[in-house]
Amino acid sequence: MLDDTPLILGKASSSGTCRTICSCASTNRPWVDATPWLHVAALGEQDVDLAMRRTRWHRIDKTGAPVIDSTHDDRILDQFTRQAQVFNTAGAITNAQALAMIVGAGTVGPDDTVLDVACGGGLVACAFAPFVAHATGIDVTPAMLERAAHHAAELGLRNVTWRQGNVARLPFPDASFSVVVTRFSLHHFEDPLAAVREMVRVCRAGGRLVIVDMYASEDPAKAREWNRLEKLRDPSHVRCLTLTELRAAFPELGLPEPAVAFYDLRDTVTALLARSFPNPGDDRLIRSMFADAIGDDRLGLEITRDGSEIRYAYPVAILSTSKPGAAATGS
Ligand SMILES: C[S@@+](CC[C@H](N)C(=O)[O-])C[C@H]1O[C@@H](n2cnc3c(N)ncnc32)[C@H](O)[C@@H]1O
Repeated sequence: MLDDTPLILGKASSSGTCRTICSCASTNRPWVDATPWLHVAALGEQDVDLAMRRTRWHRIDKTGAPVIDSTHDDRILDQFTRQAQVFNTAGAITNAQALAMIVGAGTVGPDDTVLDVACGGGLVACAFAPFVAHATGIDVTPAMLERAAHHAAELGLRNVTWRQGNVARLPFPDASFSVVVTRFSLHHFEDPLAAVREMVRVCRAGGRLVIVDMYASEDPAKAREWNRLEKLRDPSHVRCLTLTELRAAFPELGLPEPAVAFYDLRDTVTALLARSFPNPGDDRLIRSMFADAIGDDRLGLEITRDGSEIRYAYPVAILSTSKPGAAATGS
């Protein structure tokens, strides 16, 4: 049973259930171009974070009715509204050394303007901010942008801006930024090459492009199995590319060969599942897929047993290059 109690995004009503239309533009959110979403929650508890994580999110049509066909954008919104809090505080994601490597790949200076595409909770944009004139983060998920604004406020950053938008059509004129970066996003895009093309468009000639993502085994069977596991763990996952595919995107878009640096995203399977929202029952299957892979390397990943725990290492590549043309005036 749903009631019509108005609910501001992020604040649960005390009633057991609620129904509201959240218009981010009308609730003074720290981002613009927001779309109204129908927020249908069956809360049943007072814990706001938990309630948010259990909430299903849907687009609304012109009449205000929920659009409940599950498009890829719906899955992204649903997953990252749930993940917003836990993703931004996970040690494997906040890893300062990894963030420093990414900022290093940007070779930034005090006049640079940075765009962080699919910025999520703003960790990458905020890592750049102290070294540049301005950092902008754009993401499609309002709850992630809320985390980003919170994180920037905690750090006391004043040179950051958050925008809601889709990488498919970045709402910026050509050559708007001197550095364009994205982390852990390509594997969520249905058309990663088109997304990188948009990133190149909004980057100035001579500016820097930095792409960071996990990459799959060059063995197609192992790559397929890891992508199957990741899709079970996060239904908004599309596909981790191989390192060869990531590298090939650069010349395909007329860019110079990228420099590549590497690190591992290391964690336990328990911690991974604690920040994941698979469909009911799939967590057991995921755990057994990890366990089986210790013996036969079917995922193409470093996986080890540590007592009752399973540890994994996801390989991550930082690919960076400069956009051909005149030197960026910002660098
Ligand atoms: C795994 S999170 C990574 C967040 C951040 N880049 C980081 O590394 O901390 C992926 C993010 O991509 C965003 N996203 C997915 N598809 C998108 C799209 N088409 N346009 C903009 N953002 C998108 C999600 O909302 C989510 O915040």
